[in-house]
Amino acid sequence: MQVVNLKAPGGLDRLELGEQPAPGEPGPGEIRVRLHASSLNFHDYLVVTGTSPTDDGRIPMSDGAGVVEAVGEGVDEFAVGDAVVSTFFPEWLDGPARHGDFVTVPGDGIDGYARESVVRPATCFTRQPQGWSHAESATLTTAGLTAWRALVGDGGLKAGDTVLVLGTGGVSIFALQFARMMGARVIATSSSEAKLEKLRELGAEHVINYREDPEWGRKVKELTGGKGVDHVVEVGGPGTLAQSIEAVRIGGHISLIGVLTGVGGEVPTAKLMAKQARLQGLIVGSRTQQQEMVRAVEANGMKPLIDREFPLGEIADAFRHQESGRHFGKICLTW
Ligand SMILES: NC(=O)c1ccc[n+]([C@@H]2O[C@H](COP(=O)([O-])OP(=O)(O)OC[C@H]3O[C@@H](n4cnc5c(N)ncnc54)[C@H](OP(=O)(O)O)[C@@H]3O)[C@@H](O)[C@H]2O)c1
Repeated sequence: MQVVNLKAPGGLDRLELGEQPAPGEPGPGEIRVRLHASSLNFHDYLVVTGTSPTDDGRIPMSDGAGVVEAVGEGVDEFAVGDAVVSTFFPEWLDGPARHGDFVTVPGDGIDGYARESVVRPATCFTRQPQGWSHAESATLTTAGLTAWRALVGDGGLKAGDTVLVLGTGGVSIFALQFARMMGARVIATSSSEAKLEKLRELGAEHVINYREDPEWGRKVKELTGGKGVDHVVEVGGPGTLAQSIEAVRIGGHISLIGVLTGVGGEVPTAKLMAKQARLQGLIVGSRTQQQEMVRAVEANGMKPLIDREFPLGEIADAFRHQESGRHFGKICLTW
């Protein structure tokens, strides 16, 4: 089977497409999946560029979607021919968060899904939404579930709430789409005027250019009549958190998700306290939350926004496209 390996110490020119023996028959509780698609996330980028080091030869990509090819003894959840999508934390099935690192995560601590076939426990997958392509389904594992947990799973989003999303990466656009799907209002930011227009088309009620208006937190407050938003999907980290705290309402919720501007910095603690806001760090979500998300998108006929698809062999070019920042929505690999 075809497989991509990342040679140490990492770097886009260290991604190698090669051949490896296909996996054998699944054992008890396992399934064999013929993979057809993956999607790129910022986390995958950190791994493949060697910024977040991993083992020599690691198969990258956390997201994987395909078709069940064989079913091991005792598996009754899936049958041959079912369309499935991988989970980010293969061992976190349900309940509260239980992982504070990436040791168990495919494409980082263990081999990922940039390959044609895999045998894994059936619980490493959920079914895909009906009517979604493999590429569309592959966007759910990381970006989709992170946005879903931030707003719905943990955020308690209600119809009529106002949500602030930062930038136009995969997580933020999913958050915009989920917020609209759940009957919430959206304020969105971007560094690009062309992308701001697209955000409007996707249903953002107000848009702000965060480059031109570095005090965008104050602007968000003005746009909400001085009150602030109910939820912030905070993907920037230290460079954006102070503005997010400015933008949130008293008693609101900030999901601290991203590290786009770095991994440490000053937090205006007194303002956060005065706002009595909940600042919650989170990493993706559980398998049960993924199943709930799949049901929700099916019930609402929602589809993810795909910017561009690349063949598996052009994985380095796909990451270069991500690096360029020109994308709007998800970049996928298909094979
Ligand atoms: N905790 C988790 O579970 C989790 C899960 C997934 C992702 N993440 C993190 O979330 C972040 C986004 O991930 P992603 O995969 O969605 O990334 P991505 O698709 O690569 O997003 C890149 C986009 O981020 C926006 N951006 C960059 N700097 C920004 C800033 N200072 N303020 C606002 N927006 C900014 C830009 O939007 P414009 O071009 O519109 O300006 C850019 O296009 C990353 O830090 C990633 O590691 C965390």
